Amino acid sequence: MADNIRFTLNDRPAEVGDASPMTTLLDWLRDHRGLKGTKEGCAEGDCGACTVVLEHGDGRREAINACIALLGQVDGLSVRTVEGLAGSDGAPHPVQIAMAEADATQCGFCTPGFVMSAYAFAAGGEPADPDVIHDALAGNLCRCTGYRPIVEAMTKVAGMPVAPAPAPVAPVRTGSAVFGDAFFAPRSLADLLKLRAAHPEALLMAGATDLGLLASRSRRPPAAVIHVAHVPELTAIGGDKERITIGAAATYAEAQPVLLAAYPALKTYLARLGSRQIRNLGTIGGNIGTASPIGDMPPVLLALEASLTLASVRGVRRLPLDAFFLGYRKTALAPDEVIQSLSMPRLWPGEVFFCDKVSKRRDQDISTVAGAYRLRIKDGIIEGIRTGFGGLAATPKRAASVERALQGQPFTPATFEAAAEAVKEDFQPIDDWRGTAAYRLAVAANLLRRLYRRIAEPGRPVEVEAL
Ligand SMILES: Cc1cc2nc3c(=O)[nH]c(=O)nc-3n(C[C@H](O)[C@H](O)[C@H](O)COP(=O)(O)OP(=O)(O)OC[C@H]3O[C@@H](n4cnc5c(N)ncnc54)[C@H](O)[C@@H]3O)c2cc1C
Ligand code: FES
Ligand code: FES
Repeated sequence: MADNIRFTLNDRPAEVGDASPMTTLLDWLRDHRGLKGTKEGCAEGDCGACTVVLEHGDGRREAINACIALLGQVDGLSVRTVEGLAGSDGAPHPVQIAMAEADATQCGFCTPGFVMSAYAFAAGGEPADPDVIHDALAGNLCRCTGYRPIVEAMTKVAGMPVAPAPAPVAPVRTGSAVFGDAFFAPRSLADLLKLRAAHPEALLMAGATDLGLLASRSRRPPAAVIHVAHVPELTAIGGDKERITIGAAATYAEAQPVLLAAYPALKTYLARLGSRQIRNLGTIGGNIGTASPIGDMPPVLLALEASLTLASVRGVRRLPLDAFFLGYRKTALAPDEVIQSLSMPRLWPGEVFFCDKVSKRRDQDISTVAGAYRLRIKDGIIEGIRTGFGGLAATPKRAASVERALQGQPFTPATFEAAAEAVKEDFQPIDDWRGTAAYRLAVAANLLRRLYRRIAEPGRPVEVEAL
């Protein structure tokens, strides 16, 4: 028998008996609960008008996009909408007061979304640093007010004491569950693998920041999903002196501290992957699972020599990531397998790692070209090199000719010029609306020239925004 979805909504228990688990949280809030403060702008995770906040028992508050979150995903969680911000006496929340006092709203359509992002930011105790505020707001668009007053309001509420997140009132679910006909929510690896074997037609779903668009933008919700986000073996993050290991269903927000400690060059790169709303639910496993040629993580993971642990009822196997992508959106994942985790070596002393994302817009945009490079240089000779590129072929790919042009060669501009020339041997990209083939090749070649400058002249700005 199917289970009912239960979660905490604005401090009260909510039970979903009358809606499909594939309904978006936004549609349910508006159509079934009449909570119309949460708006629909784009219905694809881009504008932030639908922002609500997840409140966790450990005090974390995370902004997410309700338009692409499915109801089944929020089972057991605690959700706060803009209607849940006022005090028990009905007084507006200090974040709302700050927005009003800064004249940070005109037509008001985007305002509830901004208020919820500001609430999560204020509750996180983050500083009034313009970069941090920019990051907190990158997932929210306003068409009429202008961002200056909104930033002013954010500055006022930074670090403001916010009451600790109240304990969820919905019962805590410990076992696996099934919602509706086919929203499977396993809570153990054994249950996940059995479900995967029994339902090869079901879509694996982690954060749904890709799959949720089927329900929102396309209005064709999946018929069956297996939600992997509650399986402890898939959310674990760990490592030892030599490697780090990240569960496929750990969110970007959860994995970020470990990734940045191991590979500091990822700081800007990760900050430009989606927005906070996307990174609070999206996962690296999902990014690999889409097998998109323009996903941001595969180039990085290829350069870092990542390997995947793939699990099924038949057992576990390890596969280097560069053997995973077989063709356009085609992977080596067997129908009964799931990606359990990924693992990559830490940087050895003397190794350097850099990565670049070139996109039409700085924030909230998919790459046109992405490149990542791990190098070991000793006594002026490039002793080791691994690359990963996206946006240049049907799959994310290492650049074999580029690597040959660099391996064992002196670290000089001429070597990198030869590597830049070799890009044409490795890739035959296509023209599309993000960029022509010629543009993509030119960008990749220039990224290699920039890589030389980056290493040769540390501290010298090499990015447009730093000049
Ligand atoms: C507004 C917006 C901005 C975005 N910006 C970026 C960006 O800048 N860069 C970028 O790369 N992407 C971006 N994305 C795409 C998306 O957020 C990422 O691909 C994300 O990593 C997907 O993770 P997820 O957990 O949400 O995947 P889901 O949507 O849950 O799943 C995606 C795919 O992975 C498969 N999958 C999930 N988990 C597993 C598993 N354990 N084993 C096997 N297969 C699995 C699913 O079956 C599905 O095919 C953006 C999306 C939106 C909506
Ligand atoms: S409606 Fe635009 S992000 Fe959800
Ligand atoms: S106030 Fe009108 S869109 Fe922001």
